[in-house]
Amino acid sequence: MNEFTITPKVDAAREFIEISKDFSNPLDLVREAISNAFDANATEIKLIFNAVKLYGENVLKIEISDNGVGMNQNGLQSFFDLGNSMNRDNSAAIGEKGHGTKVYFNSAGISVTTVKDGIEYTATLDQPLKSLHDGTIPIVKVFSKKATYGNGTKIVILGYNNNRCDQFSHSMLKDHIMWFTKMGSIEKEFGISTHNDVKLILKGLDRDDPEEITFGHYFPGDSKNFNKLFDEYFTDAPHYYCKKYIKKGTLPNFPFIVN
Ligand SMILES: Nc1ncnc2c1ncn2[C@@H]1O[C@H](COP(=O)(O)OP(=O)(O)OP(=O)(O)O)[C@@H](O)[C@H]1O
Ligand SMILES: [Mg+2]
Repeated sequence: MNEFTITPKVDAAREFIEISKDFSNPLDLVREAISNAFDANATEIKLIFNAVKLYGENVLKIEISDNGVGMNQNGLQSFFDLGNSMNRDNSAAIGEKGHGTKVYFNSAGISVTTVKDGIEYTATLDQPLKSLHDGTIPIVKVFSKKATYGNGTKIVILGYNNNRCDQFSHSMLKDHIMWFTKMGSIEKEFGISTHNDVKLILKGLDRDDPEEITFGHYFPGDSKNFNKLFDEYFTDAPHYYCKKYIKKGTLPNFPFIVN
């Protein structure tokens, strides 16, 4: 009888590709970026989408900036690592897996400029997806210098998701942001005001001027006059009826959560 052992291994390049493509909806990039900006305690987040001409081709350029705490060398390492979250012990943080920024690897280039503790770091990663497909982990080049402005982070992604642009119209982005990201949280309805002053500046591909979006999902007011709805919308009136009900108590499966 022979005895031997097997040590499970990870194909790092393959795993980076799998995780970067595991985000099934291209708009997931927006959710991950917003979550990270909230975890960095940002009060202003900018998401700017443009199509730019590079070497004669139209390239999707996504710029994400925030005035959060920024990153030092360790922060940047965890930004580019897979499964290395800086938030593991922070129960208030949204992120915990160290997967989110890897959605950016599905691109032709990532550059990060970030300021923390008076130092500005510029990190660039060229052709991340191409290197991974070649079986190599791409190398990030980083330069640092004395900062001339305050903490924050700017991320530029070129050629995300093979330049597929169909999801990045202004209205689709805004809808996704208000329904599926922290920016559209319903916490204000529960009297939580922690993030009331967070604003997001958004510009989709089909718009020239950015729009400022304030924090929290918006709800229409209660429909007071029922008959008016029928006059205006006829048989569609029930679609426009809106009323807020407040129920108090605990959930059967979570009786320990009070409030
Ligand atoms: N905008 C940002 N400002 C400051 N630090 C950031 C920013 N974006 C990412 N980071 C750093 O990069 C790390 C990795 O980010 P990533 O989104 O991959 O993982 P995570 O947020 O920790 O967890 P999750 O996978 O659940 O999102 C974060 O833990 C954080 O330290
Ligand atoms: Mg994250």
